[in-house]
Amino acid sequence: MTEAAHLTVDGTDGDYPVMAGTVGPEVIDIRKLYGATGRFTYDPGFTSTAACESKITYIDGDEGILLYRGYPIDQLAEQSSFLEVAHLLLNGSLPSTAEHADFSRNITRHTMIHEQLATFYRGFRRDAHPMAIMCGIVGAMAAFYHDSTDIHDPQQRVIASHRLIAKMPTLAAMAYKYSIGQPFLYPDNSLSFSANFLRMTFGVPAEPYVVDPIVEDAMEKLLILQADHEQNASTSTVRLAGSSGANPFACISAGIACLWGPAHGGANEAALNMLREIGTPDRIPEFIARAKNKDDPFRLMGFGHRVYKNYDPRAKVMAGVAKKVLDQLGIADPIFDVARELEQIALNDPYFIDKKLYPNVDFYSGVVMSAIGFPTSMFTVLFAISRTVGWIAQWTEMMEDPEQKIGRPRQLYTGATHRDYVPLSAR
Ligand code: SDX
Repeated sequence: MTEAAHLTVDGTDGDYPVMAGTVGPEVIDIRKLYGATGRFTYDPGFTSTAACESKITYIDGDEGILLYRGYPIDQLAEQSSFLEVAHLLLNGSLPSTAEHADFSRNITRHTMIHEQLATFYRGFRRDAHPMAIMCGIVGAMAAFYHDSTDIHDPQQRVIASHRLIAKMPTLAAMAYKYSIGQPFLYPDNSLSFSANFLRMTFGVPAEPYVVDPIVEDAMEKLLILQADHEQNASTSTVRLAGSSGANPFACISAGIACLWGPAHGGANEAALNMLREIGTPDRIPEFIARAKNKDDPFRLMGFGHRVYKNYDPRAKVMAGVAKKVLDQLGIADPIFDVARELEQIALNDPYFIDKKLYPNVDFYSGVVMSAIGFPTSMFTVLFAISRTVGWIAQWTEMMEDPEQKIGRPRQLYTGATHRDYVPLSAR
Protein backbone atom coordinates (compact mmCIF):
# COMPACT_ATOMS: atom_id res chain seq x y z
CA MET A 1 0.00 0.00 0.00
CA THR A 2 1.26 3.51 -0.84
CA GLU A 3 2.39 5.33 2.29
CA ALA A 4 1.53 8.92 1.38
CA ALA A 5 1.20 11.30 -1.54
CA HIS A 6 3.76 14.08 -1.57
CA LEU A 7 2.68 17.44 -2.97
CA THR A 8 4.80 20.53 -3.43
CA VAL A 9 2.84 23.72 -4.10
CA ASP A 10 4.59 27.07 -4.46
CA GLY A 11 7.53 25.87 -2.39
CA THR A 12 5.30 24.33 0.30
CA ASP A 13 5.76 20.57 0.78
CA GLY A 14 3.00 18.40 2.10
CA ASP A 15 2.33 14.68 2.59
CA TYR A 16 -1.23 13.43 2.28
CA PRO A 17 -2.22 10.02 3.64
CA VAL A 18 -3.21 7.29 1.19
CA MET A 19 -6.11 5.05 2.21
CA ALA A 20 -6.77 1.60 0.82
CA GLY A 21 -10.11 -0.18 0.57
CA THR A 22 -10.65 -3.94 0.47
CA VAL A 23 -10.49 -3.77 -3.35
CA GLY A 24 -10.24 -1.05 -5.98
CA PRO A 25 -8.19 2.15 -6.27
CA GLU A 26 -6.55 3.66 -3.20
CA VAL A 27 -7.56 7.21 -2.29
CA ILE A 28 -5.48 10.22 -1.35
CA ASP A 29 -6.93 11.91 1.73
CA ILE A 30 -6.86 15.61 0.85
CA ARG A 31 -9.11 16.85 3.64
CA LYS A 32 -6.25 19.01 4.98
CA LEU A 33 -5.18 20.32 1.55
CA TYR A 34 -6.99 23.68 1.66
CA GLY A 35 -5.79 24.39 5.18
CA ALA A 36 -2.20 23.58 4.22
CA THR A 37 -2.04 25.17 0.75
CA GLY A 38 -4.96 27.59 0.49
CA ARG A 39 -5.91 25.74 -2.66
CA PHE A 40 -8.80 23.47 -3.72
CA THR A 41 -8.68 20.47 -6.00
CA TYR A 42 -10.59 20.86 -9.26
CA ASP A 43 -12.65 17.91 -10.51
CA PRO A 44 -15.93 18.84 -12.29
CA GLY A 45 -18.03 15.71 -12.74
CA PHE A 46 -16.01 14.03 -9.97
CA THR A 47 -14.09 11.84 -12.43
CA SER A 48 -11.24 11.35 -9.93
CA THR A 49 -13.02 11.99 -6.64
CA ALA A 50 -14.19 9.55 -3.98
CA ALA A 51 -17.00 11.37 -2.14
CA CYS A 52 -17.40 8.80 0.63
CA GLU A 53 -16.44 5.43 2.00
CA SER A 54 -18.95 2.67 1.30
CA LYS A 55 -19.38 -1.08 1.83
CA ILE A 56 -22.42 -1.57 -0.41
CA THR A 57 -21.52 -1.87 -4.10
CA TYR A 58 -18.23 -2.31 -5.93
CA ILE A 59 -17.65 -1.70 -9.63
CA ASP A 60 -14.49 -2.56 -11.56
CA GLY A 61 -15.10 -0.57 -14.75
CA ASP A 62 -12.10 -2.00 -16.60
CA GLU A 63 -13.07 -5.62 -15.94
CA GLY A 64 -16.83 -5.13 -16.16
CA ILE A 65 -17.41 -6.35 -12.60
CA LEU A 66 -20.36 -5.36 -10.35
CA LEU A 67 -20.69 -6.72 -6.81
CA TYR A 68 -23.57 -6.10 -4.38
CA ARG A 69 -22.04 -6.56 -0.91
CA GLY A 70 -19.45 -8.81 -2.63
CA TYR A 71 -21.90 -10.98 -4.59
CA PRO A 72 -21.56 -10.85 -8.44
CA ILE A 73 -24.56 -9.28 -10.13
CA ASP A 74 -25.04 -12.16 -12.59
CA GLN A 75 -25.29 -14.71 -9.76
CA LEU A 76 -27.85 -12.57 -7.93
CA ALA A 77 -29.89 -11.99 -11.10
CA GLU A 78 -29.96 -15.72 -11.83
CA GLN A 79 -30.47 -17.11 -8.31
CA SER A 80 -31.88 -14.44 -6.00
CA SER A 81 -35.08 -12.40 -5.71
CA PHE A 82 -35.53 -8.64 -5.55
CA LEU A 83 -36.57 -8.60 -1.89
CA GLU A 84 -33.66 -10.87 -0.97
CA VAL A 85 -31.30 -8.48 -2.83
CA ALA A 86 -32.96 -5.55 -1.07
CA HIS A 87 -32.24 -7.20 2.30
CA LEU A 88 -28.64 -7.81 1.17
CA LEU A 89 -28.07 -4.20 0.11
CA LEU A 90 -29.75 -2.73 3.20
CA ASN A 91 -28.30 -5.08 5.82
CA GLY A 92 -25.05 -6.34 4.30
CA SER A 93 -25.88 -10.06 4.24
CA LEU A 94 -28.14 -12.53 2.50
CA PRO A 95 -31.08 -13.16 4.84
CA SER A 96 -31.73 -16.42 6.66
CA THR A 97 -35.13 -17.99 6.05
CA ALA A 98 -36.54 -16.27 9.13
CA GLU A 99 -34.95 -12.92 8.23
CA HIS A 100 -36.29 -13.16 4.68
CA ALA A 101 -39.80 -13.89 5.93
CA ASP A 102 -39.62 -11.02 8.41
CA PHE A 103 -38.27 -8.54 5.84
CA SER A 104 -40.81 -9.60 3.19
CA ARG A 105 -43.63 -9.25 5.71
CA ASN A 106 -42.46 -5.76 6.68
CA ILE A 107 -42.30 -4.63 3.06
CA THR A 108 -45.58 -6.27 2.11
CA ARG A 109 -47.52 -4.65 4.97
CA HIS A 110 -46.47 -1.19 3.78
CA THR A 111 -47.66 -1.51 0.13
CA MET A 112 -50.85 0.55 0.61
CA ILE A 113 -50.67 4.35 0.52
CA HIS A 114 -52.57 6.95 2.55
CA GLU A 115 -55.92 7.27 0.77
CA GLN A 116 -55.57 11.06 0.44
CA LEU A 117 -52.35 10.65 -1.58
CA ALA A 118 -54.51 9.22 -4.36
CA THR A 119 -56.23 12.60 -4.73
CA PHE A 120 -52.91 14.19 -5.70
CA TYR A 121 -53.02 12.35 -9.04
CA ARG A 122 -56.20 14.20 -10.01
CA GLY A 123 -54.19 17.42 -10.02
CA PHE A 124 -51.93 16.25 -12.85
CA ARG A 125 -52.77 16.33 -16.56
CA ARG A 126 -53.49 12.84 -17.90
CA ASP A 127 -50.52 13.22 -20.27
CA ALA A 128 -48.10 14.24 -17.49
CA HIS A 129 -44.83 12.28 -17.71
CA PRO A 130 -44.97 9.60 -14.98
CA MET A 131 -41.56 10.73 -13.69
CA ALA A 132 -43.00 14.20 -13.09
CA ILE A 133 -45.76 12.57 -11.06
CA MET A 134 -43.29 10.40 -9.12
CA CYS A 135 -41.13 13.42 -8.19
CA GLY A 136 -44.21 15.11 -6.75
CA ILE A 137 -45.95 12.18 -5.13
CA VAL A 138 -42.84 10.76 -3.39
CA GLY A 139 -41.92 14.19 -2.05
CA ALA A 140 -45.52 14.57 -0.85
CA MET A 141 -45.14 11.42 1.27
CA ALA A 142 -43.31 13.67 3.76
CA ALA A 143 -46.66 15.39 4.32
CA PHE A 144 -48.29 12.12 5.38
CA TYR A 145 -45.80 9.95 7.21
CA HIS A 146 -44.67 12.33 9.94
CA ASP A 147 -44.03 9.40 12.27
CA SER A 148 -41.03 8.39 10.13
CA THR A 149 -39.31 11.65 9.26
CA ASP A 150 -37.05 11.96 12.32
CA ILE A 151 -33.78 11.00 10.64
CA HIS A 152 -31.98 10.73 14.00
CA ASP A 153 -34.28 7.94 15.19
CA PRO A 154 -32.96 4.63 13.78
CA GLN A 155 -36.38 3.00 14.10
CA GLN A 156 -38.04 5.81 12.15
CA ARG A 157 -35.32 5.51 9.48
CA VAL A 158 -36.17 1.81 9.12
CA ILE A 159 -39.92 2.45 8.88
CA ALA A 160 -39.43 5.23 6.31
CA SER A 161 -37.14 2.90 4.33
CA HIS A 162 -39.71 0.11 4.32
CA ARG A 163 -42.49 2.54 3.39
CA LEU A 164 -40.53 3.91 0.43
CA ILE A 165 -39.48 0.50 -0.93
CA ALA A 166 -42.98 -0.92 -0.49
CA LYS A 167 -44.97 2.04 -1.82
CA MET A 168 -42.93 2.87 -4.92
CA PRO A 169 -44.60 0.11 -7.01
CA THR A 170 -48.06 1.20 -5.81
CA LEU A 171 -47.41 4.85 -6.65
CA ALA A 172 -45.82 3.91 -10.00
CA ALA A 173 -48.73 1.70 -11.02
CA MET A 174 -51.12 4.52 -10.08
CA ALA A 175 -49.16 6.94 -12.28
CA TYR A 176 -49.56 4.55 -15.20
CA LYS A 177 -53.27 3.91 -14.52
CA TYR A 178 -53.92 7.64 -14.28
CA SER A 179 -52.22 8.24 -17.64
CA ILE A 180 -54.55 5.75 -19.38
CA GLY A 181 -57.72 6.73 -17.53
CA GLN A 182 -58.16 3.41 -15.76
CA PRO A 183 -59.07 3.02 -12.06
CA PHE A 184 -56.36 2.39 -9.47
CA LEU A 185 -56.02 -1.13 -8.09
CA TYR A 186 -55.12 -1.68 -4.45
CA PRO A 187 -52.14 -3.96 -3.71
CA ASP A 188 -52.82 -7.69 -3.27
CA ASN A 189 -50.42 -8.76 -0.57
CA SER A 190 -50.81 -12.43 -1.35
CA LEU A 191 -48.60 -11.77 -4.41
CA SER A 192 -44.81 -11.34 -4.70
CA PHE A 193 -43.31 -7.86 -4.94
CA SER A 194 -43.08 -8.05 -8.75
CA ALA A 195 -46.41 -9.83 -9.25
CA ASN A 196 -48.16 -7.24 -7.06
CA PHE A 197 -46.72 -4.44 -9.20
CA LEU A 198 -47.67 -6.16 -12.47
CA ARG A 199 -51.23 -6.71 -11.28
CA MET A 200 -51.64 -3.10 -10.09
CA THR A 201 -50.27 -1.95 -13.46
CA PHE A 202 -52.00 -4.22 -15.94
CA GLY A 203 -54.97 -5.60 -13.97
CA VAL A 204 -58.48 -4.08 -13.90
CA PRO A 205 -61.20 -4.31 -11.21
CA ALA A 206 -63.58 -5.92 -13.71
CA GLU A 207 -61.75 -9.22 -13.94
CA PRO A 208 -59.06 -11.32 -12.25
CA TYR A 209 -55.48 -10.75 -13.41
CA VAL A 210 -53.24 -13.80 -13.79
CA VAL A 211 -49.55 -12.97 -13.52
CA ASP A 212 -47.46 -14.63 -16.24
CA PRO A 213 -44.49 -16.30 -14.48
CA ILE A 214 -42.27 -15.45 -17.45
CA VAL A 215 -43.07 -11.77 -17.07
CA GLU A 216 -42.76 -11.96 -13.28
CA ASP A 217 -39.29 -13.50 -13.64
CA ALA A 218 -38.22 -10.81 -16.13
CA MET A 219 -39.47 -8.10 -13.77
CA GLU A 220 -37.53 -9.62 -10.88
CA LYS A 221 -34.33 -9.56 -12.93
CA LEU A 222 -34.97 -5.98 -14.11
CA LEU A 223 -35.34 -4.87 -10.49
CA ILE A 224 -32.28 -6.79 -9.26
CA LEU A 225 -30.01 -5.49 -12.04
CA GLN A 226 -30.81 -1.82 -11.36
CA ALA A 227 -30.97 -1.81 -7.57
CA ASP A 228 -27.68 -0.07 -6.78
CA HIS A 229 -24.59 1.19 -8.54
CA GLU A 230 -22.06 2.91 -6.26
CA GLN A 231 -22.00 6.73 -6.23
CA ASN A 232 -23.86 7.42 -9.51
CA ALA A 233 -25.48 10.81 -10.09
CA SER A 234 -28.85 10.06 -8.46
CA THR A 235 -27.31 8.26 -5.50
CA SER A 236 -24.94 11.17 -4.98
CA THR A 237 -27.99 13.45 -5.13
CA VAL A 238 -29.71 11.43 -2.42
CA ARG A 239 -26.59 11.49 -0.26
CA LEU A 240 -26.12 15.24 -0.72
CA ALA A 241 -29.78 15.95 0.08
CA GLY A 242 -29.56 13.66 3.10
CA SER A 243 -26.37 15.34 4.32
CA SER A 244 -28.39 18.51 5.04
CA GLY A 245 -30.74 16.52 7.28
CA ALA A 246 -33.62 16.45 4.79
CA ASN A 247 -36.19 13.72 5.45
CA PRO A 248 -35.90 10.47 3.46
CA PHE A 249 -38.99 11.13 1.32
CA ALA A 250 -37.51 14.44 0.15
CA CYS A 251 -34.15 12.77 -0.51
CA ILE A 252 -35.66 9.98 -2.62
CA SER A 253 -37.73 12.55 -4.53
CA ALA A 254 -34.47 14.36 -5.32
CA GLY A 255 -32.95 11.07 -6.49
CA ILE A 256 -35.95 10.46 -8.78
CA ALA A 257 -35.52 13.91 -10.29
CA CYS A 258 -31.84 13.30 -11.03
CA LEU A 259 -32.44 9.78 -12.39
CA TRP A 260 -34.89 11.24 -14.93
CA GLY A 261 -32.10 12.81 -16.99
CA PRO A 262 -31.39 11.10 -20.37
CA ALA A 263 -27.68 10.90 -19.53
CA HIS A 264 -28.64 8.77 -16.51
CA GLY A 265 -31.77 6.73 -15.82
CA GLY A 266 -33.71 8.46 -18.59
CA ALA A 267 -31.43 6.71 -21.10
CA ASN A 268 -33.63 3.59 -21.18
CA GLU A 269 -36.54 5.62 -22.55
CA ALA A 270 -34.19 7.51 -24.91
CA ALA A 271 -32.52 4.28 -26.07
CA LEU A 272 -35.79 2.61 -27.04
CA ASN A 273 -36.99 5.77 -28.78
CA MET A 274 -33.65 5.82 -30.64
CA LEU A 275 -34.01 2.15 -31.66
CA ARG A 276 -37.55 2.89 -32.89
CA GLU A 277 -36.27 5.91 -34.84
CA ILE A 278 -33.58 3.75 -36.46
CA GLY A 279 -36.35 1.26 -37.26
CA THR A 280 -34.42 -1.12 -39.51
CA PRO A 281 -30.79 -2.35 -39.53
CA ASP A 282 -30.05 -0.64 -42.84
CA ARG A 283 -30.36 2.77 -41.13
CA ILE A 284 -27.80 1.95 -38.42
CA PRO A 285 -24.77 3.41 -40.28
CA GLU A 286 -26.53 6.79 -40.48
CA PHE A 287 -26.93 6.90 -36.69
CA ILE A 288 -23.42 5.58 -36.03
CA ALA A 289 -22.11 8.43 -38.19
CA ARG A 290 -24.17 10.96 -36.25
CA ALA A 291 -22.89 9.58 -32.93
CA LYS A 292 -19.30 10.07 -34.15
CA ASN A 293 -19.91 13.56 -35.53
CA LYS A 294 -18.57 16.15 -33.07
CA ASP A 295 -20.93 18.76 -34.50
CA ASP A 296 -23.96 16.58 -33.87
CA PRO A 297 -25.17 16.44 -30.24
CA PHE A 298 -26.66 12.99 -30.92
CA ARG A 299 -25.24 10.14 -28.85
CA LEU A 300 -25.99 6.44 -29.01
CA MET A 301 -28.34 6.16 -26.06
CA GLY A 302 -27.64 3.12 -23.91
CA PHE A 303 -23.97 3.27 -24.87
CA GLY A 304 -20.99 4.48 -22.85
CA HIS A 305 -20.50 4.83 -19.13
CA ARG A 306 -18.48 6.97 -16.74
CA VAL A 307 -17.12 3.90 -14.95
CA TYR A 308 -17.48 0.90 -17.27
CA LYS A 309 -14.75 0.87 -19.92
CA ASN A 310 -15.78 -2.70 -20.64
CA TYR A 311 -19.13 -4.37 -21.18
CA ASP A 312 -21.62 -3.41 -18.42
CA PRO A 313 -22.26 -6.79 -16.75
CA ARG A 314 -25.89 -5.79 -16.28
CA ALA A 315 -26.28 -5.27 -20.02
CA LYS A 316 -25.04 -8.81 -20.63
CA VAL A 317 -27.68 -10.27 -18.32
CA MET A 318 -30.34 -7.88 -19.61
CA ALA A 319 -29.67 -8.96 -23.23
CA GLY A 320 -30.30 -12.55 -22.16
CA VAL A 321 -33.49 -11.59 -20.34
CA ALA A 322 -34.67 -9.70 -23.43
CA LYS A 323 -34.09 -12.69 -25.72
CA LYS A 324 -35.72 -15.10 -23.25
CA VAL A 325 -38.82 -12.99 -22.63
CA LEU A 326 -39.31 -12.31 -26.36
CA ASP A 327 -38.90 -16.00 -27.24
CA GLN A 328 -41.13 -17.24 -24.40
CA LEU A 329 -43.83 -14.69 -25.10
CA GLY A 330 -43.55 -15.36 -28.82
CA ILE A 331 -42.86 -11.71 -29.61
CA ALA A 332 -40.87 -11.00 -32.76
CA ASP A 333 -39.81 -7.43 -31.90
CA PRO A 334 -37.67 -5.93 -34.73
CA ILE A 335 -36.34 -3.47 -32.15
CA PHE A 336 -34.36 -6.29 -30.55
CA ASP A 337 -32.84 -7.22 -33.90
CA VAL A 338 -31.89 -3.57 -34.47
CA ALA A 339 -30.33 -3.45 -30.98
CA ARG A 340 -28.29 -6.60 -31.60
CA GLU A 341 -27.10 -5.36 -35.00
CA LEU A 342 -26.31 -1.88 -33.65
CA GLU A 343 -24.31 -3.43 -30.82
CA GLN A 344 -22.24 -5.54 -33.19
CA ILE A 345 -21.53 -2.65 -35.57
CA ALA A 346 -20.63 -0.23 -32.76
CA LEU A 347 -18.41 -2.75 -30.95
CA ASN A 348 -16.38 -3.19 -34.13
CA ASP A 349 -16.11 0.51 -34.93
CA PRO A 350 -12.76 2.17 -34.07
CA TYR A 351 -14.53 5.23 -32.59
CA PHE A 352 -16.34 3.13 -29.99
CA ILE A 353 -13.38 0.82 -29.45
CA ASP A 354 -10.95 3.72 -28.89
CA LYS A 355 -13.35 5.49 -26.49
CA LYS A 356 -14.24 2.17 -24.79
CA LEU A 357 -17.95 2.68 -25.36
CA TYR A 358 -20.02 -0.43 -24.65
CA PRO A 359 -23.73 -1.05 -24.14
CA ASN A 360 -24.84 -0.14 -20.63
CA VAL A 361 -27.76 -1.33 -18.52
CA ASP A 362 -30.16 0.95 -20.39
CA PHE A 363 -29.46 -0.45 -23.85
CA TYR A 364 -31.52 -3.64 -23.49
CA SER A 365 -33.72 -2.87 -20.50
CA GLY A 366 -36.17 -0.98 -22.72
CA VAL A 367 -36.61 -4.03 -24.96
CA VAL A 368 -37.58 -6.07 -21.87
CA MET A 369 -39.96 -3.44 -20.50
CA SER A 370 -41.55 -2.95 -23.92
CA ALA A 371 -42.04 -6.72 -24.27
CA ILE A 372 -43.75 -6.79 -20.86
CA GLY A 373 -46.13 -4.06 -22.07
CA PHE A 374 -44.86 -0.83 -20.51
CA PRO A 375 -44.89 2.40 -22.54
CA THR A 376 -41.46 4.07 -22.84
CA SER A 377 -42.62 6.82 -20.46
CA MET A 378 -42.71 4.23 -17.65
CA PHE A 379 -39.19 2.88 -18.22
CA THR A 380 -37.38 5.26 -15.88
CA VAL A 381 -40.15 4.85 -13.31
CA LEU A 382 -39.31 1.14 -13.16
CA PHE A 383 -35.65 2.06 -12.79
CA ALA A 384 -36.65 4.30 -9.85
CA ILE A 385 -38.63 1.48 -8.18
CA SER A 386 -35.50 -0.64 -8.25
CA ARG A 387 -32.98 2.07 -7.40
CA THR A 388 -35.00 3.19 -4.36
CA VAL A 389 -33.44 0.20 -2.58
CA GLY A 390 -29.92 1.38 -3.43
CA TRP A 391 -30.70 4.98 -2.61
CA ILE A 392 -32.07 3.95 0.79
CA ALA A 393 -29.10 1.67 1.51
CA GLN A 394 -26.64 4.46 0.63
CA TRP A 395 -28.62 7.08 2.57
CA THR A 396 -28.73 4.81 5.63
CA GLU A 397 -24.99 4.16 5.38
CA MET A 398 -24.38 7.90 5.30
CA MET A 399 -26.75 8.58 8.23
CA GLU A 400 -24.95 5.94 10.31
CA ASP A 401 -21.50 7.34 9.46
CA PRO A 402 -20.14 9.13 12.56
CA GLU A 403 -18.03 11.33 10.29
CA GLN A 404 -21.05 12.40 8.24
CA LYS A 405 -21.29 16.15 7.61
CA ILE A 406 -23.13 18.36 5.16
CA GLY A 407 -21.74 18.13 1.63
CA ARG A 408 -20.55 21.53 0.43
CA PRO A 409 -18.17 21.59 -2.58
CA ARG A 410 -16.12 24.73 -3.36
CA GLN A 411 -15.37 26.25 -6.81
CA LEU A 412 -12.89 27.92 -9.12
CA TYR A 413 -14.30 31.46 -9.33
CA THR A 414 -13.77 33.22 -12.67
CA GLY A 415 -16.43 35.90 -12.36
CA ALA A 416 -16.19 39.65 -11.75
CA THR A 417 -13.99 40.83 -8.88
CA HIS A 418 -15.11 43.61 -6.49
CA ARG A 419 -16.91 46.56 -8.09
CA ASP A 420 -19.22 49.23 -6.58
CA TYR A 421 -22.88 49.64 -7.42
CA VAL A 422 -23.70 52.20 -10.16
CA PRO A 423 -27.12 53.89 -9.88
CA LEU A 424 -29.42 53.51 -12.89
CA SER A 425 -29.21 57.24 -13.61
CA ALA A 426 -25.46 56.89 -14.06
CA ARG A 427 -25.52 53.80 -16.35
C1 SDX B 1 -26.72 5.10 -16.26
O1 SDX B 1 -23.09 6.32 -13.15
C2 SDX B 1 -23.81 5.24 -13.17
O2 SDX B 1 -23.48 4.28 -12.57
C3 SDX B 1 -25.10 5.34 -13.98
C4 SDX B 1 -25.88 4.05 -14.15
C5 SDX B 1 -26.45 3.56 -12.84
O3 SDX B 1 -26.76 2.37 -12.75
O4 SDX B 1 -26.71 4.41 -11.94
O5 SDX B 1 -25.04 3.05 -14.69
C6 SDX B 1 -27.08 4.24 -15.09
O6 SDX B 1 -26.90 6.30 -16.18
C7 SDX B 1 -26.08 4.46 -17.46
C8 SDX B 1 -25.67 5.52 -18.55
C9 SDX B 1 -26.93 5.86 -19.36
N1 SDX B 1 -26.67 6.98 -20.25
C10 SDX B 1 -26.61 6.81 -21.59
O7 SDX B 1 -26.65 5.72 -22.15
C11 SDX B 1 -26.53 8.11 -22.39
C12 SDX B 1 -25.46 7.97 -23.48
N2 SDX B 1 -24.15 7.90 -22.81
C13 SDX B 1 -23.41 9.14 -22.67
O8 SDX B 1 -24.17 10.27 -22.50
C14 SDX B 1 -22.16 8.98 -21.77
O9 SDX B 1 -21.54 7.83 -22.15
C15 SDX B 1 -22.34 8.97 -20.27
C16 SDX B 1 -23.10 10.16 -19.78
C17 SDX B 1 -23.02 7.74 -19.83
C18 SDX B 1 -20.92 9.00 -19.66
O10 SDX B 1 -20.37 10.19 -20.00
P1 SDX B 1 -18.90 10.61 -19.49
O11 SDX B 1 -18.31 9.59 -18.61
O12 SDX B 1 -18.94 12.01 -19.00
O13 SDX B 1 -18.08 10.49 -20.81
P2 SDX B 1 -17.96 11.65 -21.88
O14 SDX B 1 -19.31 12.27 -22.10
O15 SDX B 1 -16.83 12.52 -21.48
O16 SDX B 1 -17.61 10.80 -23.18
C19 SDX B 1 -16.26 10.42 -23.43
C20 SDX B 1 -16.14 10.45 -24.93
C21 SDX B 1 -16.63 11.77 -25.54
O17 SDX B 1 -15.92 11.98 -26.74
P3 SDX B 1 -14.66 13.06 -26.68
O18 SDX B 1 -15.23 14.36 -26.16
O19 SDX B 1 -13.65 12.44 -25.73
O20 SDX B 1 -14.20 13.12 -28.12
O21 SDX B 1 -17.01 9.44 -25.51
C22 SDX B 1 -18.01 10.04 -26.30
C23 SDX B 1 -18.08 11.51 -25.91
O22 SDX B 1 -18.50 12.30 -27.01
N3 SDX B 1 -19.27 9.35 -25.98
C24 SDX B 1 -20.17 8.97 -26.87
C25 SDX B 1 -21.16 8.31 -26.11
N4 SDX B 1 -20.84 8.33 -24.82
C26 SDX B 1 -19.66 8.99 -24.74
N5 SDX B 1 -20.25 9.12 -28.20
C27 SDX B 1 -21.36 8.58 -28.78
N6 SDX B 1 -22.36 7.95 -28.14
C28 SDX B 1 -22.28 7.79 -26.80
N7 SDX B 1 -23.27 7.16 -26.15
